[in-house]
Amino acid sequence: VENGLGSTPQMGWNSWNHFQCNLDEKLIRETADAIVSTGLASLGYKYINLDDCWAELNRDSQGNLVAKGSTFPSGIKALADYVHGKGLKLGIYSDAGSQTCSLQMPGSLGHEEQDAKTFASWEVDYLKYDNCNNNGISAKERYPIMAKALQNSGRSIFFSLCEWGAEDPATWAKSIGNSWRTTGDISNDWNSMTSRADLNDKWASYAGPGGWNDPDMLEVGNGGLTTEEYRSHFSIWALAKAPLLIGCDVRSMDSATKALLSNSEVIAVNQDKLGIQGKKIKSNGDLEVWGGPLSGNRVAVVLWNRGSSEATITAYWSDIGLNSATVVDARDLWAHSTKTSVKDQISASVASHDCKMYVLSPK
Ligand code: DGJ
Repeated sequence: VENGLGSTPQMGWNSWNHFQCNLDEKLIRETADAIVSTGLASLGYKYINLDDCWAELNRDSQGNLVAKGSTFPSGIKALADYVHGKGLKLGIYSDAGSQTCSLQMPGSLGHEEQDAKTFASWEVDYLKYDNCNNNGISAKERYPIMAKALQNSGRSIFFSLCEWGAEDPATWAKSIGNSWRTTGDISNDWNSMTSRADLNDKWASYAGPGGWNDPDMLEVGNGGLTTEEYRSHFSIWALAKAPLLIGCDVRSMDSATKALLSNSEVIAVNQDKLGIQGKKIKSNGDLEVWGGPLSGNRVAVVLWNRGSSEATITAYWSDIGLNSATVVDARDLWAHSTKTSVKDQISASVASHDCKMYVLSPK
């Protein structure tokens, strides 16, 4: 949507994948601190997003949402002030239904204007809007009401639709939101991650500046995948112009997790100003080539081995839209090395479940 936000995919952190309903203001403040002290903030991770379970079960006597007293005693405005003081932005969560999925707080259905005004008065910068308890009303009917309420709220608020792919959102959500979920929830395992990548891929042509396909948040650092598998997860999300929303505990992440999330060259592919979603170009069994154009006539390529043994994967210029005579410099974004004067193809031996990621720059 043209609200001046999401010109590149959103980057930040969200509480759900690691903490579920166990969040409180101390966690959020410490996470904001850690995002800054680890250097992640300066790499672009700027949204600190609360997910489900931040509010009291019931609205107050005026019908307003109320931050949960036992976990957010200082209130959301104070938290926003804290997060803004760190140079970051605060995101919040609600649901286009009568209650959120946890059933522990109200949803915004029928309270859209009021809740959008509340969020604006708290100086919230981002809304993730879930889809539980929706009374069987079409998403196409419910989500635009909140979109309009946000527009009328007097504050610029990023709108992230979390409708789990309902009603093919890529075909309608772009006019109301900055991102939309193309899939159900990710879980911290290889099959879940790879299937989300494939489901999301189908909608590639709909993404662009202002509105992005969302295959769900990152599981990097949550422990269910190997480092190689997390490298594939992060590389494919970056290439597919997916939101890069960290889902681990950044206060205690290990050095391998930090290295994956901090790869500035991979992040630069995600944040490239051309904003074209890279996609699966060809597959030979479990051996896949993904790629897409970048600004400056460059091309991003991921050689992804989804099979169980090491294998050689090759992308030919004809696969990735380069003229056969083109000579490129090939930057390996994980090895941080450059091969000059590469012709015809890029080829590498790739370990099981790992990938290689390149940016090809024509001479
Ligand atoms: C479903 C969403 O898809 C998840 O990302 C998370 O927000 C949960 N609901 C919270 O209940």
